[in-house]
Amino acid sequence: MALSYEEIFKKNREWIAKKLGEEPDYFKNLSKGQLPSYLFIGCSDSRADPEEITGLNLGDIFVHRNISNIVNPIDLSATSVIQYGIENLNIRHIIVCGHYGCGGVSAAMKKEGLGKNSPWLQIIKDIHRIHKSELDLLESDEMRYDRLVELNVIEQCQNVLEMDVVKNQYYSKRYPSVHGWVFDIRTGKIIDLNFDYKKGFNELRGERPNFGQRLFGLLKKLKK
Ligand code: CO
Repeated sequence: MALSYEEIFKKNREWIAKKLGEEPDYFKNLSKGQLPSYLFIGCSDSRADPEEITGLNLGDIFVHRNISNIVNPIDLSATSVIQYGIENLNIRHIIVCGHYGCGGVSAAMKKEGLGKNSPWLQIIKDIHRIHKSELDLLESDEMRYDRLVELNVIEQCQNVLEMDVVKNQYYSKRYPSVHGWVFDIRTGKIIDLNFDYKKGFNELRGERPNFGQRLFGLLKKLKK
């Protein structure tokens, strides 16, 4: 059962007491500033809270959330968060995290109903269209739905790589890394899609992968 509105404030006071009991300077330290290594871009869905699923604490993780974890280059909100994260917080890892059962992705797959005319979801409709032949090979609608959640995460990782502020930071400092995750709300597991950001950055620069990377890629292929 969700808490009532009034109960939230009672819970807040209990939380303060608990934190101070564990560490008397907790809020004093927190108020000194933040030094997060992680930038998390997730869905607004109430079931996919970044601190809750990762076990990271306040101050460890810089967060941006919107419907279906979209990184649209003309979205001033997402791009400002990424720019601030890179330029001011020196973020080391950017994570795009989608989740199975995502309502936005489901709406984007449908021809009728909710989301039919949503400009926000257009980017996922495009991903759906671009990958239609791959999706059509899958056996069921449920599998297509899961796969589109994954493809959306991968495409949004690519959008992150292509931002000038991210690319330039990587080329000069070799970070941030960019990771694509799916949170499986059916099991609680975080699934790393192993997005190959190093290859992505190299390709954007027009670089061929070096010998080690090519060998690793070949071994990975042979393993499959
Ligand atoms: Co969602």
